[in-house]
Amino acid sequence: MGGDDRADRSARDGSPLPRRGNPNFERDVRRMFTHIAQRYEWFDHVASMGNDLLWRPRALWELDRFRPAGPVDRILDLGCGTGELTRLAARHFPRARVVGVDFTAAMISVARRRTTAPADAGRIEYGRGTAMRLPFADGTFDLATNAFLARNLVDLDAALHEMRRVLRPGGVLLVLEITEPVSPAFGAMFHAYFDHVVPWLGAAVDSAGPYRYLPESLRRLPARPEFRAALGRAGFSRTEARTQSMGIVTAFLAEAGPRAPPAFGAGVPGSPSPPVEPGLGPDRPHQSS
Ligand SMILES: C[S@@+](CC[C@H](N)C(=O)[O-])C[C@H]1O[C@@H](n2cnc3c(N)ncnc32)[C@H](O)[C@@H]1O
Repeated sequence: MGGDDRADRSARDGSPLPRRGNPNFERDVRRMFTHIAQRYEWFDHVASMGNDLLWRPRALWELDRFRPAGPVDRILDLGCGTGELTRLAARHFPRARVVGVDFTAAMISVARRRTTAPADAGRIEYGRGTAMRLPFADGTFDLATNAFLARNLVDLDAALHEMRRVLRPGGVLLVLEITEPVSPAFGAMFHAYFDHVVPWLGAAVDSAGPYRYLPESLRRLPARPEFRAALGRAGFSRTEARTQSMGIVTAFLAEAGPRAPPAFGAGVPGSPSPPVEPGLGPDRPHQSS
């Protein structure tokens, strides 16, 4: 990488290493995902020892147990990346139309390339947009999903408000994320693996920065009860947290309450305005594939 591709903080191999708190954090997260887009899926399968292939389908089964009220015809998969959850959601709800949105163009191009099954092609579309300001009207979707997006967000509360805004009342949000294991002893092994083994694997494929950022990003997510409290503040009425793999990942499920809370930043005293990425956001609607 060089010139315009360079992140503010880089690893020894020159790969981007985003730093939370840096004013260019979101741009650097995009650069990081641009850097790893082509190897993202297989690296995750290797680093998670194949477990990530089970986590997404299981989260959709948890969603069935949560019982979304009313039909699920319109789905948003936010931070869709290469479209792994987008395609699973489309198969899980075979009548629904699914929109995958991500702010990294390189991840979306992989998603489009992988979405070739005739059954998917007519029902799934991908576009660019930021979770901080979604280019959709209030109440557009019956279901919003996202997997492994939350820990990359510059402002979790603001993004949850946006997710609530684009859901109809009674619509459901599914957030799948890596979380702190339930047992402290297993947690110590988990952190040793993410702090030492995963960055070493990343360095072996010229991606030392992204896979050093990964364990850093895990440490900043709120614990399960605080995450559910954040969902409540964003206007979700019924929430649940269902763990998998001894708590390494959690599916947070939340039902959109009857009314969205006041616009984030405008009606919530002291809260910051949602940041808008140059070239993204409502002035640049998603493009169909
Ligand atoms: C770890 S990947 C997860 C991809 C996919 N959901 C999956 O299950 O593998 C996180 C994705 O979120 C995207 N992302 C991060 N922050 C975002 C934001 N503020 N708005 C939109 N996409 C974002 C990244 O570009 C990346 O593709």
